[in-house]
Amino acid sequence: MGDRLKNKVAIITGAAKGIGFSTAQRFAQEGAIVIMADMNLESVKGASAQIPNAEAYAMNVIDRASIQAVVDQVMQKHGRIDILINNAGITQDARLVKMTEAQFDAVIDVNLKGVFNCTQLIVPHMLEAKSGAIVNASSVVGIYGNFGQTNYSATKFGVIGFTKTWARELGPKGIRVNAICPGFIATEMVKAMPENILQDIERRSWLGRLGTPEEIANVYLFLASNEASYINGVALEASGGISL
Ligand code: NAI
Repeated sequence: MGDRLKNKVAIITGAAKGIGFSTAQRFAQEGAIVIMADMNLESVKGASAQIPNAEAYAMNVIDRASIQAVVDQVMQKHGRIDILINNAGITQDARLVKMTEAQFDAVIDVNLKGVFNCTQLIVPHMLEAKSGAIVNASSVVGIYGNFGQTNYSATKFGVIGFTKTWARELGPKGIRVNAICPGFIATEMVKAMPENILQDIERRSWLGRLGTPEEIANVYLFLASNEASYINGVALEASGGISL
């Protein structure tokens, strides 16, 4: 469809479904070589088969060896990594008093430490190339907090902290780091929420509806592309204005 990411090698974590899958489709339409990484290999293989120029890899972002293995294969095959989309994320919601330590730890491990792991293992190749673009998945709940999401909202606040820190450390080396803060997007993650809460969210959004994965893919695309060449360290909200 376009050439906004022509021949760029882009790694997208959590690409088997939801926003990550839509982002893989969108990046491929813009000419990227799309590396779809997900802990669910069967499902990411099926997803990648629908996208030209996409390759499927098994990667669990909490397992550094599995990340390194993907990085090594991609470097060997393509010789560079231009874009990293730290998209993989999970929820395990419960009110503070009911949240188990296991729920707390699981979400911190994937959403926070997973972003650290992937970025730390991929950035050396961007430093060598003196260029790169990283976009991290935060959320509106990483700005405003959310009932029942002690663990999740803490990770999404943390991702903004990573973003602003790495934008300072890596900006001078030619690598831009930004975050996106989607509102409530119609994926399985959100469909798992109770119906009455979803209706309330739709009512509170000034566009009167949930967002679509395609709309968030376009935000990742903008920040990853050269059109955002002077944007570094922002947390860009795409929520229909839910917080207004
Ligand atoms: P989803 O649940 O539809 O898809 C997440 C994907 O990540 C799945 O394919 C899953 O297998 C993969 N994944 C989970 N843990 C992994 C791990 N340890 N290693 C590798 N892959 C793993 O999620 P969705 O809704 O597409 O969300 C994508 C990102 O956007 C997440 O970081 C989420 O927190 C964030 N987000 C989503 C919003 C929404 O309303 N759906 C709103 C704001 C942020």
